[in-house]
Amino acid sequence: MDIAEICKLLGLPTWVAESYRKRGIGKLYPPQEAALKSGVTEGRSLVLAAPTASGKTLVAELLMLHVALVRGGRSVYLVPLRALAGEKFQSFRELFSPHGLKVGISTGDFDRADPHLASYDVLILTNERADSIMRQRPGWFFRGLELVVVDEVHLLGDPYRGPTLEILLSALRRERPGLQLLALSATVGNPEEIAGWLGAEAVVSDFRPVPLRKGIFWEGRLCFPGEPPRELEEGGRHEPLVALALDSVREGGQVLVFVSTRRSAQAAARKLSRHVGGLLTERESRELSRLAAEIQGEVEGKTSLSVELTKCLPSGVAFHHAGLPAGHRRLVEEAFRKRLLKVLCTTTTLAAGVNLPARRVVVRDVRRYDPLHGSSYIPTLEYHQMAGRAGRPGLDPYGEAILIAKNEEEVGELLSRYVLAPPEEIRSQLAQEGALLFHLLGVIAARYVRALRDIPAFFSLTLFARQFDPGELAEALRRGLRYLEVEGFVGVEGERVFPTDFGMLTARLYIHPLTAVILRDGLREARRREDRLPIAFFHLIAATPDMEHVRMSSRDLPELEAFAEEAEGTWFVETPSFGERGFRRFLAEVKTAQVLVNWIEEKTEEELYIDFGVGPGDLHRIVETADWLLYSAVRIAELFHLRLPELSRLRRRVRYGVREELLPLVELKGIGRVRARILYEAGYRDPFALSKADPGEIAKLPHFGTKLAESLVQEARDHVSAYYGPG
Ligand SMILES: Nc1ncnc2c1ncn2[C@@H]1O[C@H](COP(=O)(O)OP(=O)(O)OP(=O)(O)O)[C@@H](O)[C@H]1O
Ligand SMILES: [Mg+2]
Repeated sequence: MDIAEICKLLGLPTWVAESYRKRGIGKLYPPQEAALKSGVTEGRSLVLAAPTASGKTLVAELLMLHVALVRGGRSVYLVPLRALAGEKFQSFRELFSPHGLKVGISTGDFDRADPHLASYDVLILTNERADSIMRQRPGWFFRGLELVVVDEVHLLGDPYRGPTLEILLSALRRERPGLQLLALSATVGNPEEIAGWLGAEAVVSDFRPVPLRKGIFWEGRLCFPGEPPRELEEGGRHEPLVALALDSVREGGQVLVFVSTRRSAQAAARKLSRHVGGLLTERESRELSRLAAEIQGEVEGKTSLSVELTKCLPSGVAFHHAGLPAGHRRLVEEAFRKRLLKVLCTTTTLAAGVNLPARRVVVRDVRRYDPLHGSSYIPTLEYHQMAGRAGRPGLDPYGEAILIAKNEEEVGELLSRYVLAPPEEIRSQLAQEGALLFHLLGVIAARYVRALRDIPAFFSLTLFARQFDPGELAEALRRGLRYLEVEGFVGVEGERVFPTDFGMLTARLYIHPLTAVILRDGLREARRREDRLPIAFFHLIAATPDMEHVRMSSRDLPELEAFAEEAEGTWFVETPSFGERGFRRFLAEVKTAQVLVNWIEEKTEEELYIDFGVGPGDLHRIVETADWLLYSAVRIAELFHLRLPELSRLRRRVRYGVREELLPLVELKGIGRVRARILYEAGYRDPFALSKADPGEIAKLPHFGTKLAESLVQEARDHVSAYYGPG
């Protein structure tokens, strides 16, 4: 069906079809048509289960336009990852904004729920952000809300992040039973069951606009089921990954390689760069060298990790993982989109939802180490997601996804486990004790339940209740409630159940109840101490389940053990001794705390990378989480009247990564930790000193230009006159 026709059918203005035509979209794909004719325009909910690259987003876009322009309502678009939120934001804005529709995004700031978010026709939220907003039940959230799109709905089955989405959807359905949901996924084995749970129709399709062949590489040969194997020219001479990459790049394709660790992403990129460079045109080499030089010239955030990136970039090869700073990750994605980069080696950071021009995807590692199970096979669903990055419409004429077998037995294993296997059925993960406790408090704090009997009633709306024995859930809920009552998060009087101030605060801060208990008890202990070191505060937050730990290797152990022994008595919480349970975890907490201490002592990012193995991307996340947990600590200290004035100062220092004396400077625009230190050493120690400075002198300092110097002095003057009055 023609796009203009469907727009007419939906009552959409003519610019809609025009905009799509400009994007090269003229006709709807069959599952798109089926979805749009399934009753969604009358407000019925839908689960759309269709292969990767089948254009599920377009269905959501047209429906959101219908909601905004015909029904006069608002839509919320939920995504699992911040990176994906950013990509959708950009693309929706290009499409909607020129025509007066407002697109918004909100992914951070857990305890704020701004009413201005209600002014967007389309609001993009991560699942966690939406859940935290729902907990506060702000009146504006549902005002005019007609549609919630749930992208990558198979996330429901993720052991870590699934429960949040499950609770969010249960709460939405409870609050607004008629609210329209549009759930999208390429990889759900049981779409009908999910649709049944959501009160939705299901449209299931196996249509893929660009053919995707899935095969296996073994002994120099490429085998796709049902086709004769093809001998690769390079097969005998090079190792498999190199042979596969060269084969595709020679034919004008680009290659995306998935590996299981960051280290192997870097190693693979290094190796591939020795072979691919010769295939670039002169212009491509020049452009890539320019990008590398751009990274080399940066003031902050450059480490040997990025230097390593600049070494392979000019050969048309790069790596991509969460350790890289966000700016460099974006630069790499951009260069791959522009087809300058030929091969990109990545961990799972690019596995789901993204559109990249990869003709060939190589999933090199199908085993991954995880601390719970050791080394194990990745889920089939994940394989299909990665494979589906190959062959995207408008970017490549076909796609290939290739696994590498190590021996003959593995060929059969890979075929049956991945190539020929459908994705797993989605199973609720809500029974995990930690997740249940977190959400039970959320549900009580949001006042979804006010009486004891409401608790099983609320949880009967979950997918878990549909799939598993309710007795198991009921018992876990009873245990959870007892814990929440004993620790003072909730009160129970007769049949009535209600959140305490502590419970409300914890739910709003969006921290785990265990985190709140650790902070409360640790801060009480801190208050009793005469000596309170920053590292003890950092260890306290690192001891909570909400803090991600720095990676630790066995090489770190002796030094950490020695440090932990020496520092005994420093900590605000009880810690295990050598040989006791939890000792290794304790050392990881200590290492994380050490990183934060070094950060506020102004160690450079390079030093932190070399000494602790934390890349700038990791550092950024750790700092962000530490900021949130220190803020939580400040609020909890207030609630329990624990006077700890250094907490707020520590929080500001963590935010900027500076010693105390630089705090007055870093809050000025354009001044980060590096420039603040330069100013300080040059004698400009606060805004007052700067306000009397000669911009010409400041412009001479390293990393300062005339423009920055002038705006800086002006800002300092405004700052000072705001305090002391003009003159
Ligand atoms: N009818 C169409 N004709 C041509 N191109 C289309 C059409 N519909 C969508 N596309 C393009 O196809 C590409 C893939 O679409 P989209 O990202 O929505 O896939 P998806 O179904 O969400 O896949 P995934 O499951 O991998 O997220 C986009 O670049 C989109 O612009
Ligand atoms: Mg998608």
